[in-house]
Parts: sequence; structure tokens; C-alpha cells
Amino acid sequence: MAGKVLESLSGQVFSLPPIWMMRQAGRYLPEYRATREKAGSFLKLCFNPELAAEVTLQPIRRFSFDAAILFSDILVIPHALGQEVTFEAGEGPRLQPLAEFGGVSRLADQLDPKVTGPIYEAIRLIKAQLPSDVTFLGFCGAPWTVATYMVAGQGGDEQIPARRMAAVDPQGFQALIDRLVEVSIDYLVGQFEAGVEAVQIFDTWAGILDPYSFERWCIAPLAAISKGVRERVPHARIIGYPKGGDKHLGKILQTAQLDGFGLDWTIDPQAVIAASAGRVALQGCLDPITLITGGDELDRQVDRILHAFQGQRFIFNLGHGIRPETPIAHVEQMIRRVRDFRG
Ligand code: CP3
Repeated sequence: MAGKVLESLSGQVFSLPPIWMMRQAGRYLPEYRATREKAGSFLKLCFNPELAAEVTLQPIRRFSFDAAILFSDILVIPHALGQEVTFEAGEGPRLQPLAEFGGVSRLADQLDPKVTGPIYEAIRLIKAQLPSDVTFLGFCGAPWTVATYMVAGQGGDEQIPARRMAAVDPQGFQALIDRLVEVSIDYLVGQFEAGVEAVQIFDTWAGILDPYSFERWCIAPLAAISKGVRERVPHARIIGYPKGGDKHLGKILQTAQLDGFGLDWTIDPQAVIAASAGRVALQGCLDPITLITGGDELDRQVDRILHAFQGQRFIFNLGHGIRPETPIAHVEQMIRRVRDFRG
């Protein structure tokens, strides 16, 4: 089996947990910025197999993380369904809002192979170069989070347009979620076939939903994707990351078969350990701001997390993606602290 992250997802407890970082290939690294410059834009980088492979491997070379995550973006899915995505520097993603685009009925039934082809090719290139003790992760966005961008055409603090659509047109919104469930299954199966060993499903906006909507728009689609992928890839290992959804952990694990669960920095370790009861590997949960500020407080927070999850199936990570302004020296300090931990 390839690497401690995969072993942890498969049931192993380590005294020294494996470590990787969400957004570990990103703008805080000068080599990433240089490769992105060479590609011309963020999306061109995503769709260039050689360069996407290169930036995926950069943080592995520099930091020897225990997992590599495919370099891409969750919004390639709407793009591959015909709802074109662009990224403006400093502004984030932009799409034509779903209603203006013509609604769910105008979306393609299947992902455009011209969009997914270069991504699967990047996976094959990464696989060929990745050290065998580094776990290779693929990913997709969860239907709810992807839908919030498709409906609004952009991000926002509270994703109000998607919440409005779910309330006033639940059937239309269900059709959108169902389409995203189907294509996400195909996409993750395609990633496994190309060479990833586990996948993470990013539900960044899960935490803003009421409990009923959380069951309908987050838990049910997650369960359906997990089931659909496992039918076609029985050995699949799947990490769910419904940010802000930890209070529903018990219910999630009753409904969706998962191997790992991503935690943000606001969680109560005792509560999630009790709710998970050893059924999944827990992953997280350093505040990305603490990684920016560094100093003794960074050491203290790393130690607190390591102590809290000692004896558990645990994968050290941030609670959300690393931010561009993070000093590289602080990343090095965090990794050293995790790897030198002696309890
Ligand atoms: O974790 C990784 O290193 C894998 C690659 C990855 C990216 N985005 C690269 C990226 C992954 C897994 C994502 C997921 C993603 N993308 C999410 C879910 C997780 C999260 O962070 O909340 C969301 C909501 C998106 C949509 C998205 N992509 C936004 C809102 C933005 C703009 C914000 C920003 O940071 O600039 C992106 C752009 C993006 N995706 C960048 C990277 C490295 C920065 C682009 C650049 O180089 O300018």
C-alpha cells in the first residue's frame, strides 16, 4: 500500500501521524508562481498535463509530504458541463449565473472529454513520477459547494443565491444536484482509473445550511457519490470534507460510507473523536491563520492537535487551504514539529 495517508484511511493508527496540506501547491511557493506564469493563467495550468504534474510534485520535493493532491480545481466540473469558468486575478472564479446560462436543462449530460482528458493525463504523469511511499489523492467538489458557484456565478460569504434557489425551486435545485452527483461519480472513477489512490470531496460551504438542508444537499449527495464510486472501484478510499459540518458527523457516518473525515479548526476534538468512534481517519485541523502568524503559538497549536488526536487514526492537515501570504519557514516549522513529536 502506498504511504501512511492511505494506510491511515485503511484503518492504521500511527504514533506519528502522516501530514499533507490542502492547497499545498499554490501561490505561497515561488516555484508555483513561476510555473503558473509559464502556463499563462490558472486555468491553462489546470489543463496543461505536464505543468499540472509539475506543480503537484513541487510541494512533495520541497517538503516530503505524505500525500500529493492532484493540481486542478473543483470548478472544472461546471466548465466540463458547458458552463464556462474564468478566473480573474485577485477576484476569484466567475461563471455565467445558472439562470442566465439557461438553467439545468442546458447543461451537458456528461463531462466533456476534452476537458477531463488532460486532467487524467496529468494523473498518469504524476503517478509515474511520485515516490511509492507518497499517497496520491484526487478530488472533486461536493455537489452543494459546486452548485453554489454555478447558481451565483461567483463566490460569496453566505452563498445566498443557491440557498434561495433551493428554497423556491427545490425540484430544479434537486435536478442540478442529481446531475452533479452523476458526473462526480464518473469523474472520481476516471481519476481512480488514471492512478489516484484516494479522493477527497470538498464541501467548503456545507456549514451554512440548516440541519434539514444539510441532510438533503450535503449528506445525501455525499452518500450517493460514495456508493456510486465504490460500485465501480471497490477499493476506493474516500475522504469527506464538509467544512463546518462536524456537528453532524454521527449522522453523516450512518448514511455515507467514508474512510476519512476532514475537520476545520473550530472543531472540538473530544466531540469528533466520540462521534467518529474509530470508524474513519480524522484529518485536520490547524487554523491556516496560525500558520501565517507562526512563532511559539504555532508550536503550541500543533502540539495541542497532536495530543488531542494521539492514539486515533489521524492525518495532520490544515483546517482549510493554505493562504498565499503564508511564510514558507512556518510550513517548515510545522512539519518539523509534527515529525519530531514524541508525545
Ligand atoms: O489542494 C490542492 O492543492 C489541490 C488543488 C485545489 C485548488 N482548488 C487549486 C486552486 C483544490 C482541491 C481546490 C478546491 C477548491 N477550489 C475549493 C474547495 C476547497 C476550498 O479551498 O474551499 C473551492 C471553493 C475552489 C474554487 C476556487 N478556486 C476559488 C474560490 C478560487 C479563488 C480563491 C483563491 O484562492 O484565489 C480558486 C483558485 C485556485 N484553486 C487557486 C489554486 C491554487 C489559486 C489560483 C491562482 O493560482 O491564482
